[in-house]
Amino acid sequence: MERTVVLIKPDAVKRGVIGEIITRLEKEGFTLVAAKFMRLPEDLIDQWYYHHREKPFFPDLKAFMTSTPVMAMLWEGKDIISRVRAICGPTDSKKAAKGTIRGDFGIDVQMNAIHASENAGAAKQELDLMFHPHEIYEY
Ligand code: RTP
Ligand code: MG
Repeated sequence: MERTVVLIKPDAVKRGVIGEIITRLEKEGFTLVAAKFMRLPEDLIDQWYYHHREKPFFPDLKAFMTSTPVMAMLWEGKDIISRVRAICGPTDSKKAAKGTIRGDFGIDVQMNAIHASENAGAAKQELDLMFHPHEIYEY
């Protein structure tokens, strides 16, 4: 079964919608297999967003992502990577349709409530960065 890594980002943590976002994923029928609430170390963000390191928004992105703990989770389900990306909506929350997670809970292009792995390669890398094998529940 396919797995994807989801982070509930600091803007959503501050607004108290962790539960609502988790509920949406549960209602899709996805299975939670790992979770932790943690402040991201800077070196982890450097690896996580390595492809963005030269972008002008990178210092701001790092400051944002470390401003509160994030809710880091591993979810499992059929075609989950593309399905979660679809229910997140586009990066810019202002362009995200109502009914998507970013459309309903995000604020702008940076404060967009949720991260979800973009493809299978990213999901594997993010899983390895975020979770030890013993933190993953095997059904
Ligand atoms: P993510 O990786 O967090 O799931 O988001 P994404 O694929 O939709 O977007 P990506 O292009 O990978 O950007 C990563 C995160 O960086 C912040 N960002 N800020 N100020 C800006 O122009 C800008 N662009 C991107 C967002 O928090 C975005 O989710
Ligand atoms: Mg991305």
